[in-house]
Amino acid sequence: MKLLLNVLKRIHKPAVYSSQPRCRSSSARSGLLPLRDEALIVGSNPELVQRLGPQVEAIHGYRETERVMWGERCEEVLSRVRSGAFPEGSPLLGPVHILDLDKTGYIKPHIDSVKFCGSTIAGLSLLSDSIMRLMKEDDAEEWLDLLLPRFSLYILRDQARYNFTHQILKDEESVFNGQRVPRLRRISVICRNLPS
Ligand code: OGA
Ligand code: MN
Repeated sequence: MKLLLNVLKRIHKPAVYSSQPRCRSSSARSGLLPLRDEALIVGSNPELVQRLGPQVEAIHGYRETERVMWGERCEEVLSRVRSGAFPEGSPLLGPVHILDLDKTGYIKPHIDSVKFCGSTIAGLSLLSDSIMRLMKEDDAEEWLDLLLPRFSLYILRDQARYNFTHQILKDEESVFNGQRVPRLRRISVICRNLPS
C-alpha cells in the first residue's frame, strides 16, 4: 500500500532514509519554520539535501487502502461530500483513499502531487479530533492551523491545496490555539479530483 502513497504524492526518496521519527525543534513546533529531518536524510551533496529536504514527506505509523465500491450508506455520505466539495462536473479520482493513522502516527508536511490530484482535496476525519497545519511552501511564517473535529469534513482548494503544505500533527504537538487536542487513532477518508 506504500505504492499508493508514492503515486499520490510528491515523494523524492533520498538515497538513505531512516524511518526513525525525530523530535521536532521548538521552532518547528511553533509552526514558524519548515519541518526538516536533516538528521534522517543524506544525499549526493549538502546543497541537494538542503533544497530537496523540505520536499520529502513521510507518514509515520499508518496503514492505508483505497476503495472504489462502497455500500449504500457510505455512498450516500460520499456523494454529499462530493457535491459539497468539488466543482460541478469536475472529474474525480475513482478510488477513495482511506488512511488509518495510529495514535503515534502523524503526517509530515507535503503537497499532494499535481500529476495525480486536481484542485481540490476533501477529507472526512473519523475516530479522533486532529489538527491540520497549512504552511506556505516558500514562506514558513505564513501558516494556518485547522481544528478537525472527528466526523468533520475539510476541503483544501486552490492556493491552500497548491501553495501550502499540509500536515497532521502528532499527539504531542496537538495544541490548537493554546488548547490541547488529544490525537488518538484517526481514520481519514479522502476524495480528490483529477488534474485538468
Ligand atoms: C494525504 C493526506 C490527510 C488526512 O494522505 O495526502 O494529506 O486527512 N491526508 O489524512
Ligand atoms: Mn495530502
